[in-house]
Amino acid sequence: MAAPRFRVERMTSTDFSDILRPCNRRGGDLCTAPLPICWPVPGEPQAYDEELRRLDYSTKQQKRWFDIDPTCHFVKAVTKDGEIACIARWNYFPNGYDMELHHLVSATEFVPAGAAAPEGPFRVELYRDMVLGMMGLRASWQPKGPAWVLMAMVTRQCYRKQGAASQLIQWGVEQARKDDIPAYLEASVTGKPVYEACGFKQVGEAVPWDLRPYGIDLVFHIAKMALYPASCAKPDESGLIKALTPKGVEI
Ligand SMILES: CC(C)(COP(=O)(O)OP(=O)(O)OC[C@H]1O[C@@H](n2cnc3c(N)ncnc32)[C@H](O)[C@@H]1OP(=O)(O)O)[C@@H](O)C(=O)NCCC(=O)NCCS
Repeated sequence: MAAPRFRVERMTSTDFSDILRPCNRRGGDLCTAPLPICWPVPGEPQAYDEELRRLDYSTKQQKRWFDIDPTCHFVKAVTKDGEIACIARWNYFPNGYDMELHHLVSATEFVPAGAAAPEGPFRVELYRDMVLGMMGLRASWQPKGPAWVLMAMVTRQCYRKQGAASQLIQWGVEQARKDDIPAYLEASVTGKPVYEACGFKQVGEAVPWDLRPYGIDLVFHIAKMALYPASCAKPDESGLIKALTPKGVEI
């Protein structure tokens, strides 16, 4: 097996400002999904300014989680020249996905009710519906019990297909293995292979997400994916384990 190309480290507070430096935007930025779908950047010459605004919004949101939520573990894949190629946010939830906390915080993240939406191509409503919808979905298929959950990940365009994301997925997989608990994530159907290569399996059917009412000609399919530890009971035929105790499973 080839040696890993990237150094994997925990992110620090200053990394969030580094991400915003101009040299770190060339060759693709580190704006996390689903923002790029909801905030398409128009072609040149406006692209750069708009991309900047979008990256700024995305990075501030991630930094906010970094500052306030101790369940967040941000990791980065760094090149030998010290550039951040990929970032990921893994959350360790001692009692399962914390819908209450995440819903509360996220609800205040968007444009407050009654305020004007930002000018330009940012479809705030779509973004809010996608983020909150994803939370509802998560609560419906991830059983209560300790778990590592991959909440966000992005590789800069110029470093894609070089194994950066796989290394950060592997980081979370190792935490879950050490703790002997499941790891979960959601993937677009096209993004599934990279997670499957790291041991994740799809749970149930992919969930269709129709973006046409928002003016985007796309039905997006989300695959729910899990990796259970060896100590877990076998998942049912849909791939789901019903309930987890701290170190095992109750079905
Ligand atoms: C999804 C995403 C994070 C993957 O990042 P990445 O760093 O390119 O991922 P990897 O390089 O680890 O793996 C991607 C593919 O490259 C292949 N690959 C890995 N190392 C490679 C190498 N040295 N040479 C060629 N290909 C390689 C992998 O096998 C994988 O192939 P597969 O898709 O056929 O399985 C990236 O495409 C991205 O940022 N997309 C937009 C945001 C997004 O969708 N985020 C996920 C939401 S959680």
